[in-house]
Amino acid sequence: MANQPKGLSESQVYDVLKSVNYPGYTYDIVSSGVVQGMDISGQHVRVVLQLNTNQQDIAAQLKQTTEEAVRAIPGVNTVAAEVRLKDQAQPGSPQNRNPFANMSALPGVRHVVAVASGKGGVGKSTVATNIAVALGMSGLRTGLLDADIYGPSIPLMMGVNEQPQVSHDNRIAPFVNHGIKMQSLGFFLGENAPVIWRGPMVMKAVQQLLKDTDWGELDALIIDLPPGTGDVQLTLVQTVPLTGAILVTTPQDLALLDVKKGAEMFKQVNAPLIGIVENMSFFVCPDCGTSTEVFRRGGGQKESERLGIPLLGRIPLDPVVCDTGDLGAPLVLSHPDTPAAEEFKAIAATVTELLSRGTGPAPIKIIN
Ligand SMILES: Nc1ncnc2c1ncn2[C@@H]1O[C@H](COP(=O)(O)OP(=O)(O)OP(=O)(O)O)[C@@H](O)[C@H]1O
Ligand SMILES: [Mg+2]
Repeated sequence: MANQPKGLSESQVYDVLKSVNYPGYTYDIVSSGVVQGMDISGQHVRVVLQLNTNQQDIAAQLKQTTEEAVRAIPGVNTVAAEVRLKDQAQPGSPQNRNPFANMSALPGVRHVVAVASGKGGVGKSTVATNIAVALGMSGLRTGLLDADIYGPSIPLMMGVNEQPQVSHDNRIAPFVNHGIKMQSLGFFLGENAPVIWRGPMVMKAVQQLLKDTDWGELDALIIDLPPGTGDVQLTLVQTVPLTGAILVTTPQDLALLDVKKGAEMFKQVNAPLIGIVENMSFFVCPDCGTSTEVFRRGGGQKESERLGIPLLGRIPLDPVVCDTGDLGAPLVLSHPDTPAAEEFKAIAATVTELLSRGTGPAPIKIIN
């Protein structure tokens, strides 16, 4: 526009709006499709935001943070952020393009964190369980959802072997063990599940388990995913807004290659990546204490640098990790002083810190 001060452009304003997060989430308001449009007239900027909620406090908060952010741009004099509630959506508004338009947060659950890997058997369930229990030990109200239809292992690792109860109002009660509220898709599936459960059935099961479980108030819900980028992953990211995903890998090239695919999937749906956990990184000889890099060194580090996300930790290969998993006595509780348990606790502390910052460390890509 001719009368704009030199340098003030829409893209400049968009860039600043990308630093404004949706309250309570790590998504910025541009990536999540909340910013509907803007116009710049001289030194005045008008921004229109379209919410997918009718919550007045969210609207008020967004109006304030948006106006503050835009006002700080050199050359801007006045700002008006017009925030439209869900019921005020204009027909044909870009709300329909909002990738989170069909999502609703789980009431009472502050952060949903997925634990994922491209390749099977790298230790997702072990990592998910120990991080969840470590978070619980540090005082956070934590839940653990086993969303692995192909091989649910959380019930075994958490020492639960019961059938879930459905209450009179059709809510499913989670199991509580080791201080963690737990639920598993495995409880609801028959032996042939991986063969017959496809597409829509998987979607429905994951959605129900997430939404119909009586989680109560949780600081964090950790979700153990099946390997790869299939129906469960897609359903999850389309059902609830994820705070972020933790990628688990072993150090070999093959596992790392699959991490790339996993990272791509989460990025494509704008879910931030919290970081990488490298598992089975090295083996410490119980006799001489020598540390051996079983696979190779530096794979997780290199991948984390490539993706621009933190390497949250490196877990040693230790038979006690496997034994405690099989016994349903998570390592961080049963052997808290082992190097692997110390590393899990440090990872949980880092995750807590990242969650409390409220920002996803990974840059968020906009997918059109
Ligand atoms: N650091 C470790 N040291 C020793 N054993 C481990 C370690 N991490 C995981 N394991 C063992 O390796 C096996 C696979 O781990 P886990 O089930 O956690 O992997 P996963 O990625 O969830 O597998 P899947 O893809 O089948 O779901 C388990 O028996 C587990 O106890
Ligand atoms: Mg698993």
